[in-house]
Amino acid sequence: MSSTPPSNAMSLDTSLALLNEIVEQLPQDRPVSQAPSARELEKVLDLRLSNEGASTEQLKEAAQAYLNYNPDVSQTNFFKLLYSGLNAPAVLGDWVTSISNATMHTYQVGPVATLMELELIRQWNALVGYDPDKSDGVMVSGGSQANLIGMLLARHKIAPEAKTKGLQGKTLVAYVSDQAHYSGLKAANVLGIGSDNLIAVKSDAQGRMDPVELDAQIAKSLQLGHTPFFIGLTAGTTVVGAYDPVKACSDVAKKHNIWLHIDGAWGAPVLFSQQHKHLLADAHLADSVAWDAHKLMNVPITAAVILVKEAGLLKDTCSGGGGEYLFHADENADFNLGERSIQCGRRADALKVWMSWKAIGNQGFSDKIDHLFACKAHCLEGIESNPNLTLLAPAVYLNVLFRYQSDENLTEEQLRSLNIAISKEMKAAGHYIDYAQYKGQTGIRLILANGLCKTTEIDAMLAKCNSVGAQLVADRAF
Ligand SMILES: Cc1ncc(COP(=O)(O)O)c(C=O)c1O
Repeated sequence: MSSTPPSNAMSLDTSLALLNEIVEQLPQDRPVSQAPSARELEKVLDLRLSNEGASTEQLKEAAQAYLNYNPDVSQTNFFKLLYSGLNAPAVLGDWVTSISNATMHTYQVGPVATLMELELIRQWNALVGYDPDKSDGVMVSGGSQANLIGMLLARHKIAPEAKTKGLQGKTLVAYVSDQAHYSGLKAANVLGIGSDNLIAVKSDAQGRMDPVELDAQIAKSLQLGHTPFFIGLTAGTTVVGAYDPVKACSDVAKKHNIWLHIDGAWGAPVLFSQQHKHLLADAHLADSVAWDAHKLMNVPITAAVILVKEAGLLKDTCSGGGGEYLFHADENADFNLGERSIQCGRRADALKVWMSWKAIGNQGFSDKIDHLFACKAHCLEGIESNPNLTLLAPAVYLNVLFRYQSDENLTEEQLRSLNIAISKEMKAAGHYIDYAQYKGQTGIRLILANGLCKTTEIDAMLAKCNSVGAQLVADRAF
């Protein structure tokens, strides 16, 4: 029986022409955020899907509405998250990736992307200080998955039988600082460790894991007959950007024979900078490192990697299945990255990272990071010289946590409400910042991640914060 394809499929030419029009017609002065509530937005958009197909004009309108209502993270006044800006070579890579629709399980269906990913891993490992010939890694969906794989590798190292037989009643215990990202909890949940067996080790006043406390917590677990197996340090904590002390914690890890992982999702790219890489000195002492390219490297989400000091361990840990139809034992078998991964289909994220790295080089990333550190220093001067603004934590990296504090004697609860109110008004006024809590105090968290950041914008943001704060206090409107 013969059949002809339906005629309603859009061609790539039309798709590209539409994209061009949409980008060209993007308003130059669009606000950083329109901030509608979900209920309001539902009323404005026509999201219904129906039996009949839509016209290209309707698709164009939908795409324009999408861009209109999404926060414009490319703007330099988007200070909210650990990513911002627009990395044009990476965007080109992302588009080409979509056209190729390569998947990363086998070399056969992603040949160039596979070789690019391997080159990226060699470069990342060299920056960490691993021997590129003895280490490996694989790209993952983000820092959360990288931390999960770090914990999985640790589990495999201490209890390889868990891969096939499960934990068999063993209580494995993992340690992160009380400032660590919540992905540690998710990993403990997913891996059957149990989130109660993830110990939040006390951090010091700077938000860094305390190695003495770490050792004490491990001793406690041992007394209970439990098995310590994973120490997860953070390089660049989410709220204040603290770097846990690698060497001191590595000594503790060695003493107890525990896997040492560094969550560098946000802070590892500091290794590009000759001036600031000391923040992550001794990274090579860790057994694995998580690194997000979709944060400070500004590559479109998602692009991240788990780097592993001992080559081959990822494959031992993650491989299994697929041999009957996918992983053929041909001459390219060693290049089938799927056996190092927990995914089957995996988007070829390598191209966009490779494109932007190729375009600007290590020096380009280094210059950008150094510029952002200079902007941070300028911001700190602005805060210090303003009697109404107070820094809530040391800003060693590119996070600045501060708050507005009036002369009046406000309680912690009132200061929290005031700074939340300031954040909301600032966002509506075009300075996209957010609030966060650190050691019981709430303040405004500023993230510097956009390489085009200007000190004049930081001055404007601080001045606005001051005037909004003063007005809210005068009006008692918080
Ligand atoms: C320190 C840290 N680790 C891990 C993550 C999770 O990364 P991802 O969003 O790429 O999963 C984040 C996210 O903000 C983070 O700040």
